[in-house]
Amino acid sequence: MKMKIIRLPIIALCFALILFFSGCAFDIIYIDQIPVQYENASIRKSGFELKDEVNVDLNEPLLWVLRDDLKLTGTKFGCGTGECGACSVLIDGEAKRSCRVPVAYVSSGQEIITVEGLGTIENLSPLQKAFIDHTAFCCGYCTPGMLASALEYVEGGGGAIACSDAAFGSSILNLTMPGRGINMGDGWETKRRREPGNEWVIIALGHPGILKSIELDTAHYKGNYPDRASIQATYVTGGTRDSIVTQSMFWRELLPEQKLEMDAIHCYESELKDLGPITHVRVNIIPDGGLSRVRLLGSIVRE
Ligand code: FES
Repeated sequence: MKMKIIRLPIIALCFALILFFSGCAFDIIYIDQIPVQYENASIRKSGFELKDEVNVDLNEPLLWVLRDDLKLTGTKFGCGTGECGACSVLIDGEAKRSCRVPVAYVSSGQEIITVEGLGTIENLSPLQKAFIDHTAFCCGYCTPGMLASALEYVEGGGGAIACSDAAFGSSILNLTMPGRGINMGDGWETKRRREPGNEWVIIALGHPGILKSIELDTAHYKGNYPDRASIQATYVTGGTRDSIVTQSMFWRELLPEQKLEMDAIHCYESELKDLGPITHVRVNIIPDGGLSRVRLLGSIVRE
């Protein structure tokens, strides 16, 4: 009799826990079944047959439509509450927690990118390769969500937008490419400067942020690396590309002039001045030369 008294509360507690956790994990409200047209939406390079329409509840989270209806199981379920980010996908370039996005939200021609749209096992995307090269994950379960968030920043409009000169077939767009440059052509190089002054490049951040460290890489540039470099920065709230270029010479100093070495990665942290949130930097190379990569590392400031 004593045993039964002890067991009953334990069984009741188990039932309560099961109900509680199943309620948390599947917090979906079903109303009515309405066909959602996907003819204008695209799942980029997914490799999956996209149905013209799927019959789902408009309130159903996108996560379950991706996983159950479209069989895009690369997107993972974690907390189900929008906290962990495991379920993140890109919707029109913005990383969204698909567990908290009702499918109706994306039924009007927006582009959804899941991890299946980034690359294949045989042909990984540069971002996936970078994750592997830098061991940027542990068990890998959440990695598809991390990739979506990282891609938002990589494709979020960040990159070099203007420079004083680019020679020898080089491009300022190489400066923010993944990995180290593979040769001198995989960077930004200027011709020898014959007049006073210095060469420069302006880089827009993907999002407003506070920089914690900067890397300047002169990989492969030996006889033609810049002697010195400095960086200015500002927070741009409007204006055209031309007005940004004109004003950039007056931006505040973020990194005072530093001596550079050939074919080396130069890291700066304590040398950076505290300018608060910024949106653009101007990298000055003095007087000229080549840079392979510029890494601007810090934290996003949400507006
Ligand atoms: S599953 Fe954790 S945020 Fe969506």
